[in-house]
Amino acid sequence: MTVVAVLSMKGGVGKSTVTLGLASAAWSRNLTALVVDLDPQANTTMAIDVPDAVFTTSDVLADARPGIAHEAITVSGWGSTVSVIPSERALEHRNVATGRNSALRLRTALATTPRQFDIVLIDCPPSLGELTRNALSVADRAVIVTEPNHFALHGAAEALEAVDVIAGTTNPGLRASTVVINRHRPDDREHEFHVAELRARHGDLVFEHSLPECSGVPLSQRSGSPLHTWNSPGSREVAELFDDLLDALLPTPKPAKKQAPFSLSRYLT
Ligand SMILES: Nc1ncnc2c1ncn2[C@@H]1O[C@H](COP(=O)(O)OP(=O)(O)O)[C@@H](O)[C@H]1O
Ligand SMILES: [Mg+2]
Repeated sequence: MTVVAVLSMKGGVGKSTVTLGLASAAWSRNLTALVVDLDPQANTTMAIDVPDAVFTTSDVLADARPGIAHEAITVSGWGSTVSVIPSERALEHRNVATGRNSALRLRTALATTPRQFDIVLIDCPPSLGELTRNALSVADRAVIVTEPNHFALHGAAEALEAVDVIAGTTNPGLRASTVVINRHRPDDREHEFHVAELRARHGDLVFEHSLPECSGVPLSQRSGSPLHTWNSPGSREVAELFDDLLDALLPTPKPAKKQAPFSLSRYLT
């Protein structure tokens, strides 16, 4: 099971879009996914179509008993392979530290969750507060989303630093981050400049493909269906980029043991 936290300093840059895009890529491959919505704005919850939720991430963090997250998991409107722990406004109250281990509440709540998923995707609010710290404390991978603008370099650097702090303290299992550039318009010189700047500064940490602006993205979100079901050429391109991003985040399967090459002469002599 791979746990991915999707974060950024700013709102509106594409965290929910990346969370939903990765969930859609998992859905299209029939992998099991759990989406944990840790943003009180609950945009991801709305776009993933949660028919009958009883508990939310706010309830899970308030309780935080080992394994309690299991009680809040509900199947999404996308089908049985994609489950969700939805969010609600009240989660806002949980974005401040409350005692020594408050950043570990989500980790504890998910710890003995009996159901296993191929991937768990945690959508964070637009801050590096306690909710994002909870996500990073349970994650194996962090995805930092940014737009190619003037503030991107600064924001990405701060987010990378926040990930390093958690990796150096509560979660040594947190591996190198991936920076994803969203809403890239290659014909915009300003965008090209900032993309080059991000790649020069963060090198291999920046995902090799940036995600283009695409009208199918908001349309699929509004309709509550996976991006991979949208058939415009632009949507298909973005869906394929999410397939590549999912590949980059999932552990590479161990190569099969090498067998000695077949040699006819072995049998003839
Ligand atoms: N690549 C894209 N192309 C077109 N619209 C996008 C793209 N990425 C995000 N959006 C739209 O921008 C808005 C903000 O994105 P969202 O993912 O909700 O940001 P965040 O979760 O960081 O606040 C949403 O309406 C979303 O549909
Ligand atoms: Mg969001």
